[in-house]
Amino acid sequence: MSYPYQIKSLEEYKVAYQKSITDPEGFWGEIAENFTWRKKWDKVLNWNFKEPKVEWFAGGKLNITENCLDRHLPALADKPAIIWEPNNPEERVRIVTYERLHKRVCQFAQVLKNNGVKKGDRVCIYMGMVPELAYAVLACARIGAIHSVIFGGFSAQSIADRLEDAKAEYIVTCDGAYRGGKDIPLKSIIDDALIGNKVVKRVIVYTRTRTAVSMIKGRDVWWEDEMLKVTDTLPVEDFGKSEEMDAEDPLFILYTSGSTGKPKGVVHTIGGYMVWTNYTFVNTFQYQPGQVHFCTADIGWITGHSYIIYGPLSAGATSLMFEGVPTWPDAGRFWDIVDKYKVNILYTAPTAIRSLMSYGLDPLKGKDLSSLKVLGTVGEPINEEAWHWYDENIGKKKCPIVDTWWQTETAGILISNLAGVTPSKPSWATLPLPGIQPVLVDDRGKEVTEKDEEGLYKGNLCMKAPWPGILRTTYGDHERCRTNYFATYENLYFTGDGALRNDDGFFRITGRVDDVLNVSGHRIGTAEVENAINMHASVVESAVVGFPHEVKGQGIYAYVIVSAMHGDEEHTRKDISQTVARIIGPIAKPDRIQFVNGLPKTRSGKIMRRILRKIAEGEMDKLGDTSTLLDPGVVDEIKSGKL
Ligand code: WT7
Repeated sequence: MSYPYQIKSLEEYKVAYQKSITDPEGFWGEIAENFTWRKKWDKVLNWNFKEPKVEWFAGGKLNITENCLDRHLPALADKPAIIWEPNNPEERVRIVTYERLHKRVCQFAQVLKNNGVKKGDRVCIYMGMVPELAYAVLACARIGAIHSVIFGGFSAQSIADRLEDAKAEYIVTCDGAYRGGKDIPLKSIIDDALIGNKVVKRVIVYTRTRTAVSMIKGRDVWWEDEMLKVTDTLPVEDFGKSEEMDAEDPLFILYTSGSTGKPKGVVHTIGGYMVWTNYTFVNTFQYQPGQVHFCTADIGWITGHSYIIYGPLSAGATSLMFEGVPTWPDAGRFWDIVDKYKVNILYTAPTAIRSLMSYGLDPLKGKDLSSLKVLGTVGEPINEEAWHWYDENIGKKKCPIVDTWWQTETAGILISNLAGVTPSKPSWATLPLPGIQPVLVDDRGKEVTEKDEEGLYKGNLCMKAPWPGILRTTYGDHERCRTNYFATYENLYFTGDGALRNDDGFFRITGRVDDVLNVSGHRIGTAEVENAINMHASVVESAVVGFPHEVKGQGIYAYVIVSAMHGDEEHTRKDISQTVARIIGPIAKPDRIQFVNGLPKTRSGKIMRRILRKIAEGEMDKLGDTSTLLDPGVVDEIKSGKL
């Protein structure tokens, strides 16, 4: 593969950026020519942010898996598409070539059809990081079914909520998953999620851990048995056909947390998502044919969708998929993997870097790492200390670091330096990619034109115009999409993040300005956690805020009023944590629970989170004005009990 749209110099970046703004249709139309379409689009772009309505490549017909698989077969059939490293380093690795991947995807696509899945149906995928997860995702796309992958760390209740919201009739799962020293009983969690569910017709179970599972007649079938039925009866030509899809047909739903209510199902559509993930992959990481790309994310998050599966595979790249965790069997695991497969691009999260930093340099002894060319980070702001550690000890000061800012809703990277092509600056995401028009606005939506005392522009980060990967809706509730993203500021997409801009036009993301936390790069809504805490039998009321956490970036701090303790405080804390783990999942467990007698409220009954945040951050002297509080006395009590 060659990438004629790969930007090679700062000068080229400037030219591309300029053209993408003055002539977006010409710019993206030309890039889209590099893909396989069954029928060309009628119009590159239609949009308004009022409804909102965004269409890219309307009228175009394609199948994204032909772009990820079929078109590569003539040149890349024997080249690895996916390299799979198991949780246990002693276990056999799996190298899945493009030819093999094509075959398995076609085969599983037929399995889905045999089990009743049709174009437009929602298929929920709840699996560990095994190649079969990628097969399942691509098989859905092959037949036009809409996949909704759920991260393995979510509870049965969270799965049940998502199944209901997506009205999913099909599930693909595993008996269990290995993650470090733990086995996660995926099928049994699915069974719990399905209690009382009358909508799900079929559960396909892939055998990974050989744990005993319950299999219900008429509903549950084994992956292996179903796959055999297809190979046994048919030659690949007969079942390999892919569905012709509209560019604007939905490709997937991915649930993510917001500041209110339950997680919402972000919907991405086929044509724009494909172009955006491919373009950002090829340009940000400066991928060269033959290189090994290692994105350490889980496919349960958007990063895995875009930079393990769709971006790399649509570019004919080799994508490394790792089943385990960075610290098992020891904190040298990433570096062993890098050396074992001569990884060229390593893309991970600041929280992983900080966690590995805490082990010191011993785990790096004897590791070569000389194959590395580009390093990337994603998910949260990277502090300078972590940036320099990564640069010095992993990149040996020879690898550009791309600090990539984006979101589930954006499909792919929006603001980042391009590796070795545009300048980098520690803890700055730097420049927007072509097609991206960021603007900083104040709380009334007015563009910020005055610098602050440090000479920087500071405001709420918005986008003025759509790019091919922007979300199209939130599943089943378009109004929610409008109010969440397009109603805060007129004619702008609001990201929920605050940012700074310097005179070079570089952006530095400062973090969420809404009630969303970023814990170890995972997005969690404070309201969601509060609702889960409030489910506990003794809890009267609670308020959740974030606080700075050395490794996780942010930790979860909960102020809780209880009617009675069960046992002592410590016991009650554990019960509350357990309740949260049950309702949302272990990732949402509070790091600190402080019992209080009251919460600071205004006369109208609103909790003053600003004060609680400052206390959790330990900035007791910066509480600001507390005179409007109904009972200013509660503040002193809370301050004195701070954990
Ligand atoms: C939120 C989106 C992007 C895929 C993984 C997370 C934060 C993301 C950066 C970065 C500073 C970042 C933002 C954003 N974020 N990347 N490079 N620097 N902050 O996707 O779960 O949708 O979370 O992650 O706050 O809004 P997500």
